[in-house]
Amino acid sequence: MYPLIRTLLFLLDAETSHQLTLFLLRIVNQIPGLPALLRALYRPHSNALAVELMGLQFPNPVGLAAGLDKNAECVPALFNIGFGAIEIGTVTPRPQPGNETKRLFRLPRHHALINRMGFPSVGVDAFLKNLRGGNRTGVVGINIGKNKNTSNDQAIDDYLSAFRAVYASANYVTINISSPNTPNLRDLQSGNALDDLLDALKHEQIMLGKTRNIYVPIALKIAPDLDEGEIVAVADQVQKHKLDAVIATNTTIERNGVEDELLATEIGGLSGRPLKERSTQVVRILYNHLKGTIPIIGVGGIENADDAWDRLVAGADLIQVYTGFIYEGPAIVKNICRGLEKRVLAAGCNTLTEAVAMARTGIHLMR
Ligand SMILES: Cc1cc2nc3c(=O)[nH]c(=O)nc-3n(C[C@H](O)[C@H](O)[C@H](O)COP(=O)(O)O)c2cc1C
Repeated sequence: MYPLIRTLLFLLDAETSHQLTLFLLRIVNQIPGLPALLRALYRPHSNALAVELMGLQFPNPVGLAAGLDKNAECVPALFNIGFGAIEIGTVTPRPQPGNETKRLFRLPRHHALINRMGFPSVGVDAFLKNLRGGNRTGVVGINIGKNKNTSNDQAIDDYLSAFRAVYASANYVTINISSPNTPNLRDLQSGNALDDLLDALKHEQIMLGKTRNIYVPIALKIAPDLDEGEIVAVADQVQKHKLDAVIATNTTIERNGVEDELLATEIGGLSGRPLKERSTQVVRILYNHLKGTIPIIGVGGIENADDAWDRLVAGADLIQVYTGFIYEGPAIVKNICRGLEKRVLAAGCNTLTEAVAMARTGIHLMR
């Protein structure tokens, strides 16, 4: 069924079909009976796949990555598909239009996308209004960024104001300093800029934790284009400031594997299959350095259970998908979960966490 829908959607410009899909998701959610049908069709059911992380309960390890539901318009509908968590945003403090269109391109032969959206956002107030409008039945991460017209010198103010605004509405908050589509944003990933930003956010988290009586974890999302030394330096900062998780990775500005595509020359971040290997490497570097002290969420090019398993064994505690969802459709969550459940059973384990731990120590390396 989805291959047909995808063929029709792919006849439209990529951003138009994206908007249409979000619109249909919202409509479907309002027709009596359809949400239950979606849940029956797509929601995975396996207790073995539940993961506890950052003090949160995830029914399965497959989350939706940030950027698909930038304005928090489809959260209830997306939960019907079975995601173990949904990350919404990136939301910026003030509304902004993002870059000029055209800004999203498909590379179907490579199961990839290139985007230079540039954080189109309704702004944090309207975003929170949208989020409150729908009921939520699972873990919701809110991904925050700075406005384009805020200089890097003032970036901390933007992150702090967005963080304060979303704090009580999020199960966790992701700090996005790794999008390639906001000029100079990724400079915040190193040196004093990173140290100062994380210091300010950690202080704010502690303050808000006291006044609101609830601790909301912070995750830092990083780019795949950092070299090994830079990744290790980020990991050190994450440990120093006692953040709650690292998300690896955002899209890449590299074009490895898609050089043959005319569209490869489009400016922006590449996602999907060509990013898979690099994102896995980044997770591995992080895990080797952090040694399980800080949770890792792996994202980039995951399309099926084998990809998900490899990412978990490389060091991820949870995974996320975006481009794979566009190419594989809503069954991607269930399909990944089915494959992971088979791995758990074949390893003679009761839980995914046990099976991954075994595979990591090499006791039971299977493919
Ligand atoms: C069209 C598009 C928009 C995105 N927007 C965001 C965003 O707003 N914030 C963010 O942190 N990541 C954003 N991402 C990155 C994804 O969350 C993810 O990190 C990346 O695409 C790699 O995963 P994938 O290969 O499964 O797509 C976006 C990706 C795409 C394709």
